[in-house]
Amino acid sequence: MTSNVIRPADIRDVAVIGLGLMGSGIAELVARSGRRVVAIEISQSFLDQGMARLRASLDKAVTRGKLTDTAREEILARIRPVHDIAAGVADADLVIEAIPERMELKRTLYAELDQACRADAILATNTSSLSITEIAGGTRHPARVAGLHFFNPAPVMKLVEVISTVLTSPDTAEALALVARDLGKTPVQVSDRAGFIVNALLFPYLNHAVRLLETAQATREDIDKAAAVGLGLPMGPLTLLDLIGLDTSLAILEVLQAEFGGTRYAPAPLLRKLCDARLFGRKSGRGFYDYRHSTPATTAEDHDLVSAPVPGEVALIKDQDGLLDELASQITAAGISVLPQPSPETGLIIVAADPKHRVLDAALAVGHPADVVGIYFTGTGDGKPGLAELVLPDVTAAATRAKAVALAARLGLHAVTSPDRPGFLTEALAFAQFNDAVRMVQEGFASPADIDTAMMLGCGYPRGPLQMLDDAGPANVVTVLEAMHTTTGDPAFTPVPLLAEYATAGTRFRS
Ligand code: CAA
Repeated sequence: MTSNVIRPADIRDVAVIGLGLMGSGIAELVARSGRRVVAIEISQSFLDQGMARLRASLDKAVTRGKLTDTAREEILARIRPVHDIAAGVADADLVIEAIPERMELKRTLYAELDQACRADAILATNTSSLSITEIAGGTRHPARVAGLHFFNPAPVMKLVEVISTVLTSPDTAEALALVARDLGKTPVQVSDRAGFIVNALLFPYLNHAVRLLETAQATREDIDKAAAVGLGLPMGPLTLLDLIGLDTSLAILEVLQAEFGGTRYAPAPLLRKLCDARLFGRKSGRGFYDYRHSTPATTAEDHDLVSAPVPGEVALIKDQDGLLDELASQITAAGISVLPQPSPETGLIIVAADPKHRVLDAALAVGHPADVVGIYFTGTGDGKPGLAELVLPDVTAAATRAKAVALAARLGLHAVTSPDRPGFLTEALAFAQFNDAVRMVQEGFASPADIDTAMMLGCGYPRGPLQMLDDAGPANVVTVLEAMHTTTGDPAFTPVPLLAEYATAGTRFRS
């Protein structure tokens, strides 16, 4: 059988429709590869905004010494901004569509493309949430319609998901995978299902983080620090939501919720409220964080914690595994007395916390429960300093918390405070995502290797979720998830059968 796959060298003229956050990045990327780009927007003002964003990105690359002035001018010379769609796409070998995520807009556009494009042109949509099958179904040549899903920032993130519908020809999918490689990306091929690989795993985790914030389990900074320091991710979930855009994120969650149901995808009310308030994140100047001022505002509570006095003595209840030995040495080295047992005057009692068990039980056993703080160290094992989770049972006194925070600051620890709930902050966020990843494997949608590649290249994970699961130990993950399920009553935390089976058998997902 002869293949009709179009080679990347045959794709010289590319039309990019929609110059928003993603479209302008994609146009930049394609023009950088030496191809001619027609950059299309519906109005002159949107066109100007998109081109300004694209120019700013190139200027930044010049300033950082990554691009010469001449190369920037050559790239810009290859981009022709227009607002006439029909004229813009007439010669295109490939059209990449990145317009707003509204099906009626897409259908109208694709009807126009049907008339205006060459019959052999490939039409690729960058949609992150809509059904590509539905988009393709309304066109005359659905075999040449597929998804080409980039990640924000498009010039930086290495992954591209190539999505085939039941109507997409294998040649189209193959041609897009080859073009993606030619643009310096790594393609992963998947079928058309809501969220594909990355968004189906990323968004429930982001949503979980918003729930932790809105139920006052942790501050936004601590939630972000737990993911960035505890898991080694490039940015915390709330910062990432602000980067992606809260409106886009809400729309993606709604689609996932409609397709899969269940609590993991039901958008957290706080996310909806921020969208109602038009606080869309970085692009609108404010979301979970405020980008209009260079220094983040600190709350009165932050101030009280930072200014609390460092205690003169600390009771440290040694555990059998010696988990607190190093901490004891650090505290002593800082000139603070370490007592092996609490006295009524101690004021701060530290116990080793275990994400599978309540610190409260240890606090009650020690006595003086209002003075007790649990401590749990997590790290990525890459030699970077890990995270200290200061775990606070509800009975811990505010003054005790302040002392523990002040002590951690004196010792130079990367510390967060967490409520006394199974998994604390880091493992609760991570293990729930690992469970989602195993569900995806169980459903036969993607292999463990593809899932790990997608999350590493699409979201900058240092290790993929299934590798992290193996490293944490499937049996350990199952125990924490079961405890999360028991405490919250949320069935989404029930370990999926494949995970439970691997945990029992001692099998790993990545060998
Ligand atoms: N455009 C172009 N280049 C950019 C950029 C942008 N918007 N932002 C950063 N860069 C470049 C920088 O110029 C720099 O390049 P060099 O190394 O060549 O100098 C490089 O990226 C690193 O940037 P910084 O040093 O400024 O910042 P950083 O190291 O903190 O990295 C980041 C920034 C790449 C965004 C990193 O934090 C990261 O990987 N974050 C995770 C992003 C992520 O998860 N994206 C996926 C979101 S989901 C999605 O997009 C799908 C969807 O459908 C919604």
